[in-house]
Formats: sequence, C-alpha cells, structure tokens
Amino acid sequence: MTDDITRTVQRIAAEAPGRVAAAATLEELRAVEGELLGKKGELTALKKGMGALDPEARRAAGQAMNEVRASVEAAIAARRTDLEGAARALTLAAERLDLTEAVEHRQRGSLHLVTQTMDRLVDVFVGMGFTVAEGPEVETDWYNFEALNIPAAHPARGMWDTLYVDLGDPETVLLRTHTSPVQIRVMTDGEPPIYAVMPGRVYRRDTADASHMPVFHQIEGLVVDRGISFADLAGTLEAFTSAYFGGSIHSRLRPSYFPFTEPSAEYDINCIFCEGRGCRTCGQTGWLELGGCGMVHPNVLRNVGLDAEEWTGFAFGFGLDRLALMRHGVDDIREMFTGDVRFLEQFPA
Ligand code: DAH
Repeated sequence: MTDDITRTVQRIAAEAPGRVAAAATLEELRAVEGELLGKKGELTALKKGMGALDPEARRAAGQAMNEVRASVEAAIAARRTDLEGAARALTLAAERLDLTEAVEHRQRGSLHLVTQTMDRLVDVFVGMGFTVAEGPEVETDWYNFEALNIPAAHPARGMWDTLYVDLGDPETVLLRTHTSPVQIRVMTDGEPPIYAVMPGRVYRRDTADASHMPVFHQIEGLVVDRGISFADLAGTLEAFTSAYFGGSIHSRLRPSYFPFTEPSAEYDINCIFCEGRGCRTCGQTGWLELGGCGMVHPNVLRNVGLDAEEWTGFAFGFGLDRLALMRHGVDDIREMFTGDVRFLEQFPA
C-alpha cells in the first residue's frame, strides 16, 4: 500500500512539469490544475488511501505528497504568469493603432522663410523693448511721401518707382513703396516716447529678376523721445546686429541721404560669410549693405504735430528678403515668391 502511494506520488511528480508546460492557454492550465490539485484531482484521491497506513508510513507519504503539491503549485503559478503575459501581448498587438499610416500621407507645412525671418527680427527688437506696429499696404500720397518730407515735385520721389492705385484724384492713392509711412501712423496714433518696429510688405514698379521683385518686405524702426542722439541710433543698430547675427558681426554707418532723416546714413554690417575678410558675396569689401537710417527730420516731426524742440528721434529701415536670401545662400529673390514647395520645404520652421 505504501509502495503504491509512493509510486503514484513519484509518477505525479515526474509527469506534472510536462503537463503544466503543455497547457497552451489559461483555460487548459486551469484544467490541468484541477486534474492534479483539485478536489477530484489525483493528489486528493491519494490522500483518501492514506487512512489505511500506519502512522509512520502515513507521515512519510503525507510529507512526500505535500512536497509534490508545493512544487506542482509553483509550476502552475509560473506557467500562469507566462500565459497571462502572452495573452496581454496578444491583446495589445490586436488593439494597436498604426498612427504612422495616418501621418505618412500628410504633408506637414511650415512658416514661409520670409515669415520666419520677420518673426526672428521682430523677436530681437521686442527683446530690446520695442513694440510692433503695422499699417496698410494701400497708402495715400500723404503718408507715403508728403508727411515724410518728400513733396510732389521733389527729385527724391525718383528714389521710389511707385505703383499707383486708380482711386480718387490721379496719383493720390498708391501701394506703399516702403514701410516708412507706418512711422507717420505710429506718431499720429500715439504719443512719444515711441520705440516701435514695423514689418511689412512693400511694392515698387520693378521688373522681376534675380535681385528685384515688384513686391518685397521691409522692417522699419522708429524711436522718438527726449534727448535721443545719433549715438543712440548707432548703439541700437550695433546691439541689434550682434543679437541677430552673432557677437562677431559689427555694424557701421556711412553718410547718405534720405528726405525724412537728417543726418542720414547707410547701415552696413560685417559680411556674414567672410566676417569682414572679403569674399564674392560682399564684393571683397568685407561689408554688406542692409538699409538706411538717420535722425528723424524736424519737418517730419512737425508734420505729425510734434514739437521738434522737445522731441528727437531716429529711424531705420531695411529689406528683409535680401537678408534671408544671403543668410541661406539663395541667389534668386524670385524663389521667395513663387511658392515652389521643393524650395520652401528646405526651411522647416
Ligand atoms: N524707406 C527707405 C527705403 O525704402 C529706407 C529707410 C531709410 C528707412 C532711412 C528709414 C530711414 O526709416 O531712416 O529706401
């Protein structure tokens, strides 16, 4: 009798690992568990035969059975963990959504190179305490010329090839030729102290070629306050230059002429390609011309009703497209306006 029990326990111990391992699903494992350990299971059935044994043999058989039960329980628990993991992986795989499929076919757009350039320029000036203002692209002769100290017959009008709009009296309404009229609007709409930049689109009667477009972009700057001097202008442009182009690039001002500033200057920076040593882009001069600037002409202040004795100011204006072109080594300004995606996608914002 003892031998029978011992043999059966040994057989169960030998078979159990294989049977547990053979359970391929949680359900099958539950069935194997029932067969081995359940109320009607093989080990339980053996217990019933133990009553006939003498105490010594019963203790030995009982111990052997407990050991087998414990190891079978452990094997089942381990197998259950494995099967649960596999089942979870299956569910996850089945419920997985392939989001790349939706994204792959969608072209992601970005800001136009001009907008990126404009944003960066404005950021630098905002960081220096300037506000941002905008004005209309269709202007009157007063804002674009007269108020800026450029009277009708003045030869300086020739500096801007103007596109007129067929509205009202002849040559009274036009597409603004520069962002300078926004200076007038800022001064008439508000009061000094004024520290403002004005980015925007401008128009000229020009035939499109690699370096000209009838439409392009400028950014204008205007400061009006008490005691503003030419040194403030030079210092502001120098601070802007190193903030935007990096600390190794400096600015210089050369005497020039604009009707709305006195004195007037051209604003140059060290060539950003050769850093001043001289290269093809800067024509071996080491300098790049960015735009114009100067002290706001007293006539301009008077035109907007400001006391030119009390207030002084400076202004500057430069082209934005050429700046972006140079920075990215693009040799044709028309690229900025044709909207060719193959060009645009080279400048993801
Ligand atoms: N408006 C001028 C142009 O388009 C550029 C300019 C020169 C703007 C001097 C200014 C300035 O504000 O002070 O050619």
